[in-house]
Amino acid sequence: MTVAISVTDLVFGYQKGNFTLSCPHLRLEQGKLSLITGANGSGKTTLAKLICGILRPSGGSVQIFGQATSELSLGEIGRQVGYLFQDPSRQLFAGTVWKEMTFVDHLLESEQGTSTKKAQDLLDRFGLGELKSRSIYFLSGGEKQRLALCTILMGEPRFLILDEPTVGLDKQNRVILYDILDDLLREGRGIAVITHENELIERFAGAPQIKVERGQVSL
Ligand SMILES: Nc1ncnc2c1ncn2[C@@H]1O[C@H](COP(=O)(O)OP(=O)(O)O)[C@@H](O)[C@H]1O
Ligand SMILES: [Mg+2]
Repeated sequence: MTVAISVTDLVFGYQKGNFTLSCPHLRLEQGKLSLITGANGSGKTTLAKLICGILRPSGGSVQIFGQATSELSLGEIGRQVGYLFQDPSRQLFAGTVWKEMTFVDHLLESEQGTSTKKAQDLLDRFGLGELKSRSIYFLSGGEKQRLALCTILMGEPRFLILDEPTVGLDKQNRVILYDILDDLLREGRGIAVITHENELIERFAGAPQIKVERGQVSL
């Protein structure tokens, strides 16, 4: 097995408040889906942000594909581990669907041809191909989420963390999401899904479950 994410003796506390997260040992396998479950406020999002470098541990270490994140910039981590926020509209800001998809490449002035094709292919694959000129303010919740996922996939991360991705989605959009997850797994990506919804947990029954309880992470 290839280990995608490895956490050892991690401790973290926010500057304000008295919440602390402790994760003595965690391994997430590449090419598989893992579930991170736990009640509201238990520390799931905090754990995800520590893995993808948005928060930095006060002690212990996080490794992604064998590299300590303490040695990596946020951008370097982001190229390997993509994080879909619980509220994907927080990740959208460029105006239209198409601008959102090409924003980073536009900044980097990279090869327009290849990135344009990649963006179009991703939008088509996620059923957003016809919405290129639509303002992000006129997208449904499910469309916003798929667009945020598409923008993350533009960077071709090997591993994805999705934070409570079913919240606010109707049945139809949930089913589309599950199929997308299957598809990403078939491509060989690793995925961690944060959730406390039984439907998702049952859909991916057999997936390794990491439990977070009042700041304690355990398998
Ligand atoms: N920026 C912050 N500063 C201080 N405390 C925070 C901050 N963000 C979250 N917390 C607290 O940390 C705890 C865990 O939050 P979180 O990781 O978001 O839980 P979950 O995602 O499992 O609902 C909660 O008690 C929350 O209030
Ligand atoms: Mg959360």
